[in-house]
Amino acid sequence: MHTPHDENNKPVEFDRLIDHAISRRNLIKAGSAAGATAFLGGVAPLAMAVSEATTLMSFDNIPTSTADDISLPPGYRYEVLMSWGDPVLKGAPNFARDNTADDQAGQFGDNTDGMELFHLTDRNGNMDPDRAVLAVNNEYLNDEYFYTHGEAAKTAEDVQKGLNAHGVTVVELQRKRNGNWEYKKGSDYNRRLHGNAEFELTGPVAGTDYVKTSADASGRRVFGTFNNCGAGRTPWGTYMTCEENFNGYFGAPEGTNLSDAHKRYGLSENGSGYNWWQHESRFNLAQEPNEPNRFGWIVEIDPTDPTSTPKKRTAMGRFKHENAAMTINSDGRAVVYMGDDERGEFIYKFVSRGTYNPDDRAANMRLLEEGDLYVAKFNEDGSGQWIELRYSVNGLNQANGFADQADVLVRARAAATLVGATTMDRPEWVACHPSSPMVFCTLTNNKNRGVYDNQPVGGPNPRAENHYGQIVRWMPENRDHTSDRFGWDLYAVAGNPAVKSGAYAGSDNITEENMFNSPDGLRFDDFGRLWIQTDGNYSNEGDFAGQGNNQMLCGDPVTGHIRRFMVGPQGCEITGLSFSNDHRVALVGIQHPGNAWPNAGRDGVPRSSIVAVYREDGGVIGA
Ligand code: FEO
Ligand code: CA
Ligand code: CA
Ligand code: CA
Repeated sequence: MHTPHDENNKPVEFDRLIDHAISRRNLIKAGSAAGATAFLGGVAPLAMAVSEATTLMSFDNIPTSTADDISLPPGYRYEVLMSWGDPVLKGAPNFARDNTADDQAGQFGDNTDGMELFHLTDRNGNMDPDRAVLAVNNEYLNDEYFYTHGEAAKTAEDVQKGLNAHGVTVVELQRKRNGNWEYKKGSDYNRRLHGNAEFELTGPVAGTDYVKTSADASGRRVFGTFNNCGAGRTPWGTYMTCEENFNGYFGAPEGTNLSDAHKRYGLSENGSGYNWWQHESRFNLAQEPNEPNRFGWIVEIDPTDPTSTPKKRTAMGRFKHENAAMTINSDGRAVVYMGDDERGEFIYKFVSRGTYNPDDRAANMRLLEEGDLYVAKFNEDGSGQWIELRYSVNGLNQANGFADQADVLVRARAAATLVGATTMDRPEWVACHPSSPMVFCTLTNNKNRGVYDNQPVGGPNPRAENHYGQIVRWMPENRDHTSDRFGWDLYAVAGNPAVKSGAYAGSDNITEENMFNSPDGLRFDDFGRLWIQTDGNYSNEGDFAGQGNNQMLCGDPVTGHIRRFMVGPQGCEITGLSFSNDHRVALVGIQHPGNAWPNAGRDGVPRSSIVAVYREDGGVIGA
């Protein structure tokens, strides 16, 4: 049986899948032994039938690779679009390893990550197929390449250069006559929203004592956004950038007493070794204990208004945000699914109070200011619940140590633990299917589960000492994303069938030909192809033998077929994916390549880069 597709190869009928998930849950609720057994088998993805053909992809699975180069299927090619240090703002110099902090403030930042492409409109107000603005994250630094002196102690100038290489880059792109895209240096749209740029806190936490500092008595004006990992977009044309491991930038003198609240977010005296606090007091936890409360948020940016101040959306909760997957519910409310990437942390859902109005962009621009936050509880039987994180309900009260709603949002992790959410194997990206209510989330790996911690093994986290990761999928009850109930199953359980048997060989849709570990980046294209990017072990040895470098795969969400589409250069992670509206270019992030790519034969310094992938015949990517 084939899944029906329309003339554009878009899947048009998902009832079979949806009904499968819902009926399984009902079976289990009714106590059917068959349903429960099938489900608790756990590792095999239930709705999959990999023997069915897929019509969603026509490229062939490519072999893995350990080369310091990019592999693509026959008939595809790539070009480097932009690399760390390339000039973005007017007057910025070309990349040189000894660029100054001021130079870096006008250049593309380091470690490209999540990104979204927004087409511009032409003078008649129509979508311009050949002009767009790209908003892209610059997650962190690799000191060994970033500084000419490598990892040696930093000067004040080094700290400023580091601050200026973080955050978000907004840059105009244009399609040339030959069909290739290039970025436009010095465009009026171009911005660097780096570690010294101004941001505004909005929502319930803004203006509260939790976020006031000696530099900002208002509790609303923040400088910088850091460790911007994955991303998301809204239908009103804004970019959501996600602050992940913000804790690493803070530090303190030895012997500083850190609160439990800070420790829960990984704040420590040494941080990730940036040691910015030694030159910038705002990063000193002993002096500014509230400064870290101003990070760990989702930030909304209007990429087509270069004068706008980006907004940190506190109603969506504070944690180590991986990405933000928005869908508009049938009642018009904006629903955003979000993962907290840490071993044993959670998956969240935000539901806006107001509704999306396609004709009122100004009103839409305030939709993420107010709403309700939920956290997921996955039951063993394939059902699940969203538990609300609202002050005074579900035990989130003064007796349990919560003072008010702002406290619940600032300490969302503690609130989620209190209400009994399910600890997950490092939730990374979430992706919403473009035409059905299915939602997918990568659970990248968790070496600690069941071995170095006491977290239960089972449900969506079915393996102890999980080095490979899995992809969970859920469906809201009655196709209503605001429902507090859902059904779930596992779309894929990564593994290595060449060297393992049983659960560690992976699910039925994982073979020696398409295997991978540590799924991370995840997005659907408009045709319903599920693109999977990896950030895993690339040793190609032992448990990972035959898996090669990090890679990008493509999955059919209905049949379960997964094919390898791309393999990255040595040492890199593949993260970040965007398509032009016509899907004839895919922009893919090659983060922290480890050798000399793409600069072999030039200065030899590896530079994180965005590549543009094309089909030789100009066709739709993946079709
Ligand atoms: Fe920045 Fe969880 O990846
Ligand atoms: Ca990631
Ligand atoms: Ca990762
Ligand atoms: Ca990364």
